[in-house]
Amino acid sequence: MGLSGAGPGEMGALAAASGGRYEPDPRGSAPARAAVCAYYAARGLEVDAARLVLTAGTSEAYAHLFRLLADPGGRFLVPSPSYPLFEPLAALEGVELERYRLAFHGRWHLDLEALDRAFRGGASGVVVVQPNHPTGSCLAPAEIGHLESLCEAHGAAIVSDEVFGDFPWPPAVAPLPSLLGPRRVPTFVLSGLSKVCGMPGMKLSWIALAGPDAASERALAGLEWIADLFLSVGSPVQAALPRLLEARRVFQPRVRERLRSNLETLRAFTARRPEFQLLPAAGGWVAMLRVPLVRSEEEWALELLRRDVVVHPGHFYEYEVEGRAHIVLSLIVEPAHLEAGLARIETLAAT
Ligand SMILES: Cc1ncc(COP(=O)(O)O)c(C=O)c1O
Repeated sequence: MGLSGAGPGEMGALAAASGGRYEPDPRGSAPARAAVCAYYAARGLEVDAARLVLTAGTSEAYAHLFRLLADPGGRFLVPSPSYPLFEPLAALEGVELERYRLAFHGRWHLDLEALDRAFRGGASGVVVVQPNHPTGSCLAPAEIGHLESLCEAHGAAIVSDEVFGDFPWPPAVAPLPSLLGPRRVPTFVLSGLSKVCGMPGMKLSWIALAGPDAASERALAGLEWIADLFLSVGSPVQAALPRLLEARRVFQPRVRERLRSNLETLRAFTARRPEFQLLPAAGGWVAMLRVPLVRSEEEWALELLRRDVVVHPGHFYEYEVEGRAHIVLSLIVEPAHLEAGLARIETLAAT
């Protein structure tokens, strides 16, 4: 059974909205932004509609923010390991990236020394991903406090990518911690329909801004100016947004059940085969599996591909540790597919 969040009801909402008049607001229509505020309110988070800007996907949100916050040749700090699209998105905007390390010692944590070092060359902004992709980890409150102090000292903003924030690993049910709330520096929180409702094709995401008033006003004026150049979010999807967001109430429980079932399978597998280790995580749609070094992680991925099993090697996400090999597995595949894939992994371990 597929997990797409867009059913006939949602497509109907889009069709019903298609005949509307074209009265663009660069930040997104007021009812659409109100719907995003209502989504956050249901999570216990307060967002001011005046501090929201809609975008056509999260990648576009990143592009806007690189343009807004950094001059060409400016620097952004990004976590490592993390989402591989940062590199090309930043390169397109002429922004240089410096990586700061997340380290794994039984659990993921922020390498504070590496972060301090990364800041030495200056930074216009720092990206955090909560929960991170592919580690599934969230920064602890003390780590966020340290990051915020460094940003304050260096005049840097925070970009918090929270697209997987609604997907804690079962048995947890509460959404993962957000950086929305009182903040000392401008903090741009990203999310959207792609993951919240399983509707990547709707191309609607948002930037919600937290932080001090004066700096936020300036940032919003800049963002509005950039968004006005493109007006990229279609009117029908904006008009349909209140109804589309409601569809998460059906989609998210299905994903959580899929995560529960697939994690159970994976945990049973690693319990039976202790040479494989599932790296613990807080949430997200993928799992990192440490695999025995009978071959390199690249070879693991290639050999599995030859057996029709698609995994990513850890280095796709800039995760390379001497003497270790990791592969990244999807947790939202059909349970039978995961079981079949694990059986092939087990066979391959013996060859
Ligand atoms: C961490 C992270 N951010 C953003 C995105 C992309 O979201 P969108 O489809 O809204 O561009 C992804 C997609 O997998 C992701 O993993």
